[in-house]
Formats: sequence, C-alpha cells, structure tokens
Amino acid sequence: MQIPNWPVSSERELELLREVLDSGRWGGHSDLVKKLEQAFAAFAHCKHAVSAMNGTVTLEMALSAAGVGAGDEVIVPAISFVSTAMAVSRVGATPVFVDIEPLSFNMDAERAAAAITKRTKAIIPVHFGAAIADMDRLLPLAAEHGLAVIEDAAHAQGSEWNGRRAGGLALAGSFSFQNSKVLTAGEGGMITTNDAAFAEHVWSIMDQGRKPGGGWFHHYLLGTNYRIGGFQAAVLLAQMERLPEQNARRTRNAALLRAELADVRGLQFQEIPKQQSANTWYLLLGRIDARRMGRTRDEFHRALTARGVPCTPFYPHPLYGNPLYQDGGCRVEPCPVSEECIGDAFWLPHRALLGDEETTRQIAGAMMKACQEVFA
Ligand SMILES: Cc1ncc(COP(=O)(O)O)c(C=O)c1O
Repeated sequence: MQIPNWPVSSERELELLREVLDSGRWGGHSDLVKKLEQAFAAFAHCKHAVSAMNGTVTLEMALSAAGVGAGDEVIVPAISFVSTAMAVSRVGATPVFVDIEPLSFNMDAERAAAAITKRTKAIIPVHFGAAIADMDRLLPLAAEHGLAVIEDAAHAQGSEWNGRRAGGLALAGSFSFQNSKVLTAGEGGMITTNDAAFAEHVWSIMDQGRKPGGGWFHHYLLGTNYRIGGFQAAVLLAQMERLPEQNARRTRNAALLRAELADVRGLQFQEIPKQQSANTWYLLLGRIDARRMGRTRDEFHRALTARGVPCTPFYPHPLYGNPLYQDGGCRVEPCPVSEECIGDAFWLPHRALLGDEETTRQIAGAMMKACQEVFA
C-alpha cells in the first residue's frame, strides 16, 4: 500500500529558503514573514494574521489580548490536545472542561452553557479533526454572556462554516503549523482576526511589546519574543501553494472511504455538520462499537495497523485525566461522552487521505477486513 509520507516538500521550498538566505534578513522581520501573514489572512478570509512560534503560544497570546487572566474561567472541551487547556493555565486562568457531542467530537454547546459562571471570560471551541464546532449555537451563547470566543483552529486550515473559513468566525482564530498539521514548517503558529486593535495587541505581545512600525527600542506593553523566522515563513509559503489541491484530494478520498464503509454496522465516522461547506480532513475520525461482540477498539486498531494502515487509538484520557490537572487547577463538568470516546474512538492521520484512488480503496478494504475481524 503506497500511503504517502508527511510532510512533503519540493524545489519550491528550497527556492524560497534561498530567497531568505540571500536577503540577509533571516529573523522575524524578514519580508517573507510579512508575505506569509498577508497570504494567510487572505486564505482564512480575515483582515489580519499574526504569526508566532507555535499553536500553543498563539492561544496564550489571544487569551491575554482578550483580557483573560488570574481569577477567570475559560470553557474548553475535555477532548483536545493539551495546549487548549494549558494555554488557559499559562495565563493564570482556570480551564473548565466540558463534554463533547457523541459524533462530532466537538464541544457540546448545551454543556458549555451549563458551565458558565460569573467568572467565565471566554470559550475555546476546538474544530476537532477539522470539523467545525457548532458555531451557530456557541456564538450566540457567548454573545449573550459577554464572552470572548477564540477558535482553536489548529486542525482546520481551510475548513469552512457556511462559506466562512475557520479563524474568521469569532474574535480570533489560532492555528498550528506543527509537523503533523496540514500546513507545516515543523513548528509555527498564526492568529487570525478581523479586529484591528486586537491584531495590534497580539502582534505587540509577539514582538517584545513594540508597536507595529514603532522603534526597535520602544516597548509599550509586557510582550515577549514569539517571532517565527524567515526560514519558517519560506517553508509555509511554499506549503500554502499546495494546500488547496491537498485539501481537495483529502476531501475526495474521505468521501470515497466513508462511502465504501457506510454500511458497516458498529463503525461510525465523525458526523460533519450540514453547515460545514469545506473540510480540511486533518483527521479521519470514527468510533467502534464492538462491545456487543465482546471486542474492543484496541482490537480494531491492532487489526488495522497489522494491515499497514496508520491509526491512532484516540487519546489515553480526557484532558483532565492528565497528571497536570489531577490535583486541581481546573474545573471538571460531567463528561460521559468524552470518557466513552477514550475507549472506542480512533483516527487515521490525514496522510492516509493523500494517496491516489487505488490506495484509498486499499485502505477502505483494510478497514473493512479489520471490522469483519472485530465484529465477527
Ligand atoms: C487542538 C490543538 N490545539 C493546539 C495545538 C498546539 O499546537 P503546537 O503544537 O503548534 O503548539 C495542537 C497541536 O497539536 C492541537 O492539536
């Protein structure tokens, strides 16, 4: 089975890297960093984009710029990568873990509503696997309570909700360009927003409290140095040129794979909301209900990987199960769905959706066989 490797690169990366080398401006003030921010803002259908070192500090910066700090609570889903909660803790606020919906894997708006207190300052919906969280319910809820919404769009470069791209649906969007992401320079991050003052604030945090266009030795607020360099920008600009075609290929292959396996009883793929007009397919997510046969998701995972298909048996625990949060520092709402998913969910990485049609049919065949083995 010819499942493509990830990440991919070509002469184009080398060409742009050479441009940075020859420019003599290798750091965060490279022209290519500016170009990248402009290109990404346009890509995300946003007015502003500010780059930073990774998709964890972008969340921290967005929270700080939204005025979130000590004594505040921020609602996050119990299922995500740890950064979604860790960023909240790093700014001195308390993450409040709420449950996800059973098949979208995204924050349950009703659970979020039930978790709001006088201390709540913000909500961070994660577009898990690139499926957009239910913004039709989360945005009005936040507006009603005066809460900032920061999209954790680390998985969702190019996903759309009713024609509007991830990162432009709320106050701010936070993106990651870490190695596994659909747009990558090994490490990197971006904040998108349509609010000019907010963009200036996060830019200033990222660049030592300077003002855009201001003097090098003039510092106006407590910032830090979270700049990316020209080399990362060069790689990301080259990767961006390939992204639309890759997103289209993943979309085609995901549709084929899901159609081939649509009738397998006990296998349910992630539910994609009807408002989602484009999907980046960072992860192909599903749940396995093999309990009636006395079998487990882990057996499915073993059967699939034995056939050469890369598969991850979900997270080992909801975020509050990490030792970091075992002794407090968070609030945990009831999360029965998250707990269930730990035992029965799985994902395939997006590179499994980047092959040709024949490879996709082979993956579907391997998944079918793994299901037959587990459900037999
Ligand atoms: C949902 C989510 N948010 C944030 C991050 C953090 O990104 P980074 O690794 O760039 O810090 C990740 C990374 O995997 C993620 O999956």
